[in-house]
Amino acid sequence: MKIYLAPMEGVVDSILRDLLTAIGGFDYCVTEFLRITNTLYPNHVFFRHCPELHQQSKTKAGTPVWFQLLGSDISCISDNAMRAVKLGAFGIDLNFGCPAKTVNRHDGGATLLKDPHRVYDIVHGVRKTLPTHIDLTAKIRLGFEDKTLALENAIAADEGGAAVLIVHARTKKEGYKPPAHWEWIRKIKDVVNIPVVANGDIWTVQDYLRCLEVTGCSDVMIGRGAVSMPDLALQIKSTVENSDISPYSWEQIRKILSKMFYNCWQHDDRGKYPVSRTKQWLKMLSRTYSEAQQLFENIKIIRDAHLVYDIIRENVINETSDNKPQEKV
Ligand SMILES: Cc1cc2nc3c(=O)[nH]c(=O)nc-3n(C[C@H](O)[C@H](O)[C@H](O)COP(=O)(O)O)c2cc1C
Repeated sequence: MKIYLAPMEGVVDSILRDLLTAIGGFDYCVTEFLRITNTLYPNHVFFRHCPELHQQSKTKAGTPVWFQLLGSDISCISDNAMRAVKLGAFGIDLNFGCPAKTVNRHDGGATLLKDPHRVYDIVHGVRKTLPTHIDLTAKIRLGFEDKTLALENAIAADEGGAAVLIVHARTKKEGYKPPAHWEWIRKIKDVVNIPVVANGDIWTVQDYLRCLEVTGCSDVMIGRGAVSMPDLALQIKSTVENSDISPYSWEQIRKILSKMFYNCWQHDDRGKYPVSRTKQWLKMLSRTYSEAQQLFENIKIIRDAHLVYDIIRENVINETSDNKPQEKV
């Protein structure tokens, strides 16, 4: 059984990938999507998008990272995919699920699910370009407006040459509205010949077990559940392995939060970025930790990075004070 950390644009960047995979339980990560229009991006764009390329396409904890591309221009996606591979990408994932209006209007993401031939052509075209040892995966939703093409799209990705199919069990129209339709993943699994990764609404260990039962999959991808419960993958693995580990305490999470803040601060001297990322993560952590909601309330109107950093570290003891970037204003 494998657990993938889901790509989440604006949320699961390399900083969060490092922190979450360090906690454990994840076998793979996928980058946020890099949108391809008609440009072959220069190397620095790939490194910025996936700094793990500097370290054999692995997070600091050693978890492999797939590089996700989004678009519909086959030759341009292929060129960019090849560049990612030359720079060390572990594998390429193609995004057929993004629901964003701008992306869909420019013929990318979930809109491609309206025509299974296009799914086939894109997967097949990119597959043909890549060296055989590099795996290509496809991430789909159940459809655009409805689920009538769900099976055809899945078959198209399989026949096009995807090695693995990741299925977010909703249509584009359903957005993120619960429930995820896991029963459709089983239908898909029954008609394709490649491993299917079940995705959507795994928030707890119990959800994971139910998802496996309904879908018949052994592999899952977790997004929001992993951000709101950072040790969820670890909890799942320990349940499956019958080993007993305690859930992370709020104090442990708070330390990780302050590490995230510090790491984000390295990328933004003015401190706006770590402050907004911290508020965003706290909101998501509130689902699991009532303390996160409280902390969010305490900092929600504060903009000053030093102040926010002090507040989130208030109870973080046994950490060296030189952790704080004193030179920042
Ligand atoms: C804020 C946000 C950003 C996302 N960005 C991406 C993305 O860049 N690429 C992608 O394939 N899916 C993206 N997704 C979809 C997730 O990967 C996942 O399929 C979806 O959240 C369902 O899984 P979950 O219920 O475990 O979160 C995003 C979802 C969210 C909520």
